[in-house]
Amino acid sequence: MQLGVYLHCPLIQKNIHMKERNIQFKYFIYESPEELPDEDLALLTLARKTMENAYAPYSGFRVGAAVLLEGGEMLAGTNYENAAYPLGACAERNVLAAAHAQHPDKAVLAIAIAVQNDKMEIVEPAAPCGGCRQNILETERKNNHHIRIIMHGESGPVYVVEKGADLLPLAFDETYL
Ligand code: THU
Repeated sequence: MQLGVYLHCPLIQKNIHMKERNIQFKYFIYESPEELPDEDLALLTLARKTMENAYAPYSGFRVGAAVLLEGGEMLAGTNYENAAYPLGACAERNVLAAAHAQHPDKAVLAIAIAVQNDKMEIVEPAAPCGGCRQNILETERKNNHHIRIIMHGESGPVYVVEKGADLLPLAFDETYL
């Protein structure tokens, strides 16, 4: 190939210091919610119950998110869709905004996410969308505290991630601004 010949010409060879970096993250898999530590189970139960109030007439995908705050209080929210589709808001972002509005000085310790699809059974946990990961990370940085993330479908296993930053490597953050 022409390009290969060009790159192999010794006179114009570049000095390359390319490195490879590997980012790893771990998550825990519980076979069912009943196996979770009590505090996680209570938060997931609230997320699941609140999910029933999700306003999702367009997608039929219901999401409930519950947060545990420093001091033990729990708050919950759902996704909230709109006929002008892009205006719909995710459950995670809604509850994080409410947590800050009501308790700006309390760290968020954990968030549990429960989902249900009206069209099919979700048997694997649904991880937060990219935008919500960015919001979870922002909350971690604002409060200087990791957020434990507990995720569950309608049935099947529960995934637990120890911190939001794990779900968003090489993230954009306030240090660029
Ligand atoms: N949704 C959430 O609430 N959280 C997520 O992390 C992913 C998606 C909502 C948005 C929309 O109302 C529906 O799920 C389908 O995308």
